[in-house]
Amino acid sequence: MDGLETLRAAHLTAIRDASDEGALEAARLAAIGKKGEVALKMRELGKMTPEERATAGPALNALKTEIGAAVAARKEALGDAALAERLESEWLDVTLSPRPRQQGTLHPISQVTEEVTAIFADMGFDVREGAQIEDDWHNFDALNIVPEHPSRAEMDTFYMAPREDGTRNVLRTHTSPVQIRTLQKEGAPVRFIAPGRVYRSDYDQTHTPMFHQVEGMAIDRTITMAHLKWTLEEFVKAFFEVDNVELRFRASHFPFTEPSAEVDIRCSWQGGVLKIGEGDDWLEILGSGMVHPKVLSNCDIDPAEWQGFAFGMGIDRIAMLKYGIPDLRGFFECDLRWLRHYGFSPLQVPTLHGGIGG
Ligand code: DAH
Repeated sequence: MDGLETLRAAHLTAIRDASDEGALEAARLAAIGKKGEVALKMRELGKMTPEERATAGPALNALKTEIGAAVAARKEALGDAALAERLESEWLDVTLSPRPRQQGTLHPISQVTEEVTAIFADMGFDVREGAQIEDDWHNFDALNIVPEHPSRAEMDTFYMAPREDGTRNVLRTHTSPVQIRTLQKEGAPVRFIAPGRVYRSDYDQTHTPMFHQVEGMAIDRTITMAHLKWTLEEFVKAFFEVDNVELRFRASHFPFTEPSAEVDIRCSWQGGVLKIGEGDDWLEILGSGMVHPKVLSNCDIDPAEWQGFAFGMGIDRIAMLKYGIPDLRGFFECDLRWLRHYGFSPLQVPTLHGGIGG
């Protein structure tokens, strides 16, 4: 058949010279595509004598196979070249030393939570966690908070849509439901703290809709308010790193404690600097009291046999006081400059022996 050798040479060259997948596909179509030159040649077979066809047919088939193989080979070579090029351009020297500038910092809330945990752990308190989505019963009823209590108002609490039976979930308004969850699960005696996020519908310089509390609870047979007072004094001394502190227990009211007390610490503000343990000012830091017998019996614990104390403290607030942070809203704005300024080295874990402060 005329010109077959010329045709073969031209197409194999085009295929070998194709510089990318697009060019290769074009070369393939020109050669062995439906309208390619080999197909056109095959159409001529019909006009041939049987003798001519007997040699031309196999020759054309062989050529088609040869060109197909050449295309496949070229395709593989192009793939290898692309990979080699990527490997060349995307390599990374993993032996380079890390960036000298420390980028990340620990948020003051994380830092203070660690500090509080270290101090209470040293006094034998475990750490418990509850869920941030609670039901009405755990967040309010079980804590002896009556249905008409103002803290249950729609205005302050983030409620979820009610279920068919009328019950509904809330974003927990305090960490106190962890008291209920823990007592129900573990019974008495218990001694734990429960740090975590809480939610209330409020927003100004000292209130954000999400903030942090730490709950504390100790239940045993003979626990009294004296234990509460000692525990809190030890905590304040360790947390603010002062040797002498004076606490003031102010009679107060919480539905889940009886008697209840709000606790203030003696302090002074000189030139905007807070000093703990001296001066004529008082700073409120937490609410506390002896656990109400109804709370215990709501958790199937016999109040004639068991008693103890509980307290709840704002983590954001004590973080602001300790580290001189003026506006609560900064905590949650994710401003990198703020984080760099107030953040802590992630490698400095607070311990009582190593130092509690950042
Ligand atoms: N749950 C209270 C609040 O959110 C704080 C509190 C007060 C917790 C007294 C307690 C407690 O455990 O005994 O304001």
